[in-house]
Amino acid sequence: MELLCIQSQEHPELPQAELKAVIECEGMNTKINVITEGLVILKEISSENIDDYYKTLTKRLGYTHEVHEIIKKSSIEKLDNDITEIKWNDFICDNFSVRVKRFNSDIDTVSVERKVGALILKNSENIKVNLTKPESLIRLVAFKDTIYVAIEKYHLNKKHFEEIKPHKRPFFYPGSMSPKLARCMVNLSRVTEGDLLLDPFCGTGGILIEAGLIGCKVAGSDINWKMKNGTAINLEYCGIEDYRTFNLDVRELKMYEKVAGVVTDPPYGISTSTGDIEGDDIFKEFFYAISDNMKDDAYLCMASPHYVDLNPMLNEVGFELVEQYGIKMHRSLTRIISVIRKKI
Ligand SMILES: C[S@@+](CC[C@H](N)C(=O)[O-])C[C@H]1O[C@@H](n2cnc3c(N)ncnc32)[C@H](O)[C@@H]1O
Repeated sequence: MELLCIQSQEHPELPQAELKAVIECEGMNTKINVITEGLVILKEISSENIDDYYKTLTKRLGYTHEVHEIIKKSSIEKLDNDITEIKWNDFICDNFSVRVKRFNSDIDTVSVERKVGALILKNSENIKVNLTKPESLIRLVAFKDTIYVAIEKYHLNKKHFEEIKPHKRPFFYPGSMSPKLARCMVNLSRVTEGDLLLDPFCGTGGILIEAGLIGCKVAGSDINWKMKNGTAINLEYCGIEDYRTFNLDVRELKMYEKVAGVVTDPPYGISTSTGDIEGDDIFKEFFYAISDNMKDDAYLCMASPHYVDLNPMLNEVGFELVEQYGIKMHRSLTRIISVIRKKI
């Protein structure tokens, strides 16, 4: 069986890297087939696994917009025939709507939606069209001459990433990253439900919110007590209960238990205070402090500016770089997202 993922195209690599990391850490048995940027198919999923995988992906992913189960791989020529042959009453309970999305295709989406909707109605019983709040969304994805006919069984809550933007939380302070990037970084750290995740520069708690929402236990620390308290306020607001917060300089951090993942956005740039730590030393100090607090197989996912060379520091501390992505912020700043682990 196959799942079709429609992904964000706001970054050329991160959506796929995030999906790959989730598949890896959740131990999913599937083959990833990238059709084009924004369209990925997960193949060879067994019927016993498909529901669990589907639910997990919709719960976890940040840079994926929709996940659908593929009913039929069709084509422009065969579409009418294929739609007529599908037993729609097996898929649709009460009401439905058809939506078409195109990748490298020039089909007329509106006319295909109308035509397919009419064919479904004609070939099934006791179902209606509902364009505003359908119980079943039939998603057709056209790529060149191929048309994937799919159904949405579990909805990925895209609205969450809008509703939880930093300025909409009860405690706000400038400098918190976007919730989608925070979720992606949590996923890149390969943590799973029940794992303990630490952000030692937690600020307003943006990363910890995303980790808490996928079921991690979270711990946050910050040198500024206002941030420590603000993180707790924001976590409570999001209904996250399994958390601990500390008011500490990263150099003093001694965790009560080794953590399964560290995800963080260390301070850099002139506007951010680093205590009394000078320049790039904050990164080195951070690596030394964090290493002893991490389980041997734990990953660290962090952001840094392009002008800081982490490599010599990683070598010195005994860390290795697993993967790295650049996000252009403006002309003179690229934010680097690094996934790091201890050398074995
Ligand atoms: C870029 S902000 C983190 C933003 C955070 N991801 C959020 O969602 O708000 C960096 C944070 O590191 C904290 N910080 C600076 N120096 C520190 C140190 N030596 N130890 C611990 N925290 C420190 C700052 O107070 C600031 O809140």
